[in-house]
Amino acid sequence: MIKKSIKRFRARRIDKATREYFREVRLDVKDFIWPIFLKKGIGIKESISSMPGVYRYSYDIFIKELYSLIDYGLRSVLLFSVPNDKGLEQAWAHNGIIQCAIPEIKKNFPKLEIITDICICSYTEDGHCHIGDNDKTCEILAKIALSHARAGADIVAPSAMMDGQVLAIRSVLNKEGFNETKIMSYAAKFASNYYGPFRVAADCAPKTADRKTYQIDPPNQKEALEEIETDIYEGAQAVIVKPALAYLDVIAHASNLFKIPIIGFNVSGEYLMLYNLIQSGYANDEIVLETLIAIKRAGASRIISYFIPKVLPILFKKD
Ligand code: PBG
Ligand code: ZN
Repeated sequence: MIKKSIKRFRARRIDKATREYFREVRLDVKDFIWPIFLKKGIGIKESISSMPGVYRYSYDIFIKELYSLIDYGLRSVLLFSVPNDKGLEQAWAHNGIIQCAIPEIKKNFPKLEIITDICICSYTEDGHCHIGDNDKTCEILAKIALSHARAGADIVAPSAMMDGQVLAIRSVLNKEGFNETKIMSYAAKFASNYYGPFRVAADCAPKTADRKTYQIDPPNQKEALEEIETDIYEGAQAVIVKPALAYLDVIAHASNLFKIPIIGFNVSGEYLMLYNLIQSGYANDEIVLETLIAIKRAGASRIISYFIPKVLPILFKKD
């Protein structure tokens, strides 16, 4: 006769060391990509009303802030530019915000991976990610990507959700000899209500209508996977799922289906949601780790999050 005994799950949870031993996934500083907002000028650290604890920097102050994070092992940043005035040409100008910042950042941190966002919504008068025509917009995106590659970007990240944007960028980069500049595409970017705080930070709220005619309709998981498949076919080396939290299913399926890295973007609304919860006193900082690990557990190989500067000291705390 088999004698049944109780399975002792709690033995795995008995103390901190044991719990750590039984962990299935861990956060690693190598997973992190820190998204930041850059402005033209010098000596700027501007707070953002919609995102407390997040700032717009000029490159010099950004470089100063980077030192301590790189000491923690940070390897990668994602740059968004916020121009003072609207006007599309600045987006690919050789003296543009990103184009000037990259060489300075690289001078200080040659090994830091620099990813640049490729979109035009901070530059267009109407705040849209396109100029009306899909294919003409792709040409513009490719021009911007090339100017970032020339400035030294390691990876360009097209976020406009135009059809064929990856193909257009890949072709131009290759033609101009930038075969090794990688493309991390926002392949699965949903028409989300979680982007509100970002639109204030980057001054890119659409002035007319919304982005529902180009970003993915929230219920569509299969379509998101098809977008990812297409971007890989067009030449993307990594793809972003965005937002991350409301779309963990997409991350999970994508990481099972595709071989390339799936990146989860913990977006501005998710940041503010958690920030406010912590502020309320009903949760502590640990909730950030819990959230980021959920993105990783779902299958993301890397995570983009505004929380990264706050998380690194917690992660490395000795106790
Ligand atoms: C615009 C862009 C958005 C975000 C990144 N790039 C906003 C939007 O599509 O309206 C959102 C990022 C965030 O919310 O953190 N191309
Ligand atoms: Zn855009």
